[in-house]
Amino acid sequence: MSTSRKRLGVFTSGGDCPGLNTAIRAIVAHATLSYGWEVLGILHATQGLLERKAIPLNAEGLGGMDVLLNMGGTILGAINKGDTLAQADDVIAGYHELGLDALIAICGDGSLKILQQLAQKGNWNFLAIPKTIDNDVALTDRAIGFDTAVNIVVDALSRITSTAASHDRVFVVEVMGRTAGHLALYSGIAGGADVILIPEIPYSIEGICQHLQKLRERWGRKFALIVVAEGAHEIGHDPSQPYPPHHSIGQYIADQVVKQSPIPIELRVSVLGHIQRGGAPMAMDRLLAAGMGNTAVDLAAQGTFGRMVAWQGGQVVTVPISDVVAKCPRHVDPDSFLIRTAQGLGIYVGDKPMLPYVDPTLCRDEVTCAI
Ligand code: F6P
Repeated sequence: MSTSRKRLGVFTSGGDCPGLNTAIRAIVAHATLSYGWEVLGILHATQGLLERKAIPLNAEGLGGMDVLLNMGGTILGAINKGDTLAQADDVIAGYHELGLDALIAICGDGSLKILQQLAQKGNWNFLAIPKTIDNDVALTDRAIGFDTAVNIVVDALSRITSTAASHDRVFVVEVMGRTAGHLALYSGIAGGADVILIPEIPYSIEGICQHLQKLRERWGRKFALIVVAEGAHEIGHDPSQPYPPHHSIGQYIADQVVKQSPIPIELRVSVLGHIQRGGAPMAMDRLLAAGMGNTAVDLAAQGTFGRMVAWQGGQVVTVPISDVVAKCPRHVDPDSFLIRTAQGLGIYVGDKPMLPYVDPTLCRDEVTCAI
């Protein structure tokens, strides 16, 4: 029997987000201190496997590694483009040539689909940890990075509110989210939006204009906040097609509202962009990253693979990666309690009637009562 130390690989794949370094730190600490494993950080994910580029990560200087707790981005670099599958054999060989006994990927749904195929083809001992400010990885209530992004947007909305109110202006604030509107919905409710537009519920310019008019007539309020996810689309528009003449959905909505509004409106657009992905993680993302990193290492040590660590019902659980891939991306449920909450607060969330309240814990039919 070999007495050599086991070697764990870790990488970050897809768009970066706050909390990646915190997860790396947790993995290194637990793998080296609790199990005596060696940890290799693969640089730029599959690119690093392809080029055999990796760095040793160790907990001896956990003093040094503590810096990671507060650091945005990823010290390992990430990659969210390129045709990895076209070079599948070379990427797969990288895992074996680097002498890995297991590999943990901290990744979003796009990377996970590709990595699952590589892992199966290459016979990798593979585990995943979900991360993305979009929070659209299936079978987990939370992905690392989402909570911090929500807080960044809420902070931005509060700053924009004060200038909007001072000048009686309407602001369109464009946030990330091409296919799922979790970030717009959570931050819009928490940040006092009057309109929240998400990919899952089509809107009409007329509906937005009527809402702004109502705000003015009922409350005498001339300023307003419209939060729009990148992937929101108008009723009747094919969501798979972009709005060709517009580089930004926020600008498109602003132009149309000014054109069609029956009341005069002064409007400004603010596209938050990659600010939403940068900077130090908030406490919730640090906790998630620590819990998920720890659990992934435990799975590797137990020899359990093919699973993603997930957050469900307030605790860390594990789910088969194949199930996650089959159900991605996780959309906002238009009948969820958060949509109803937004509507109850008088927020326009698209042309959708408000559903009656149903207590999901009193309902036996899990399909119709799912939140
Ligand atoms: O998936 C994360 C995400 O931030 C999306 O919300 C956004 O649409 C996309 O990545 C932006 O990608 P890039 O960094 O390549 O511009």
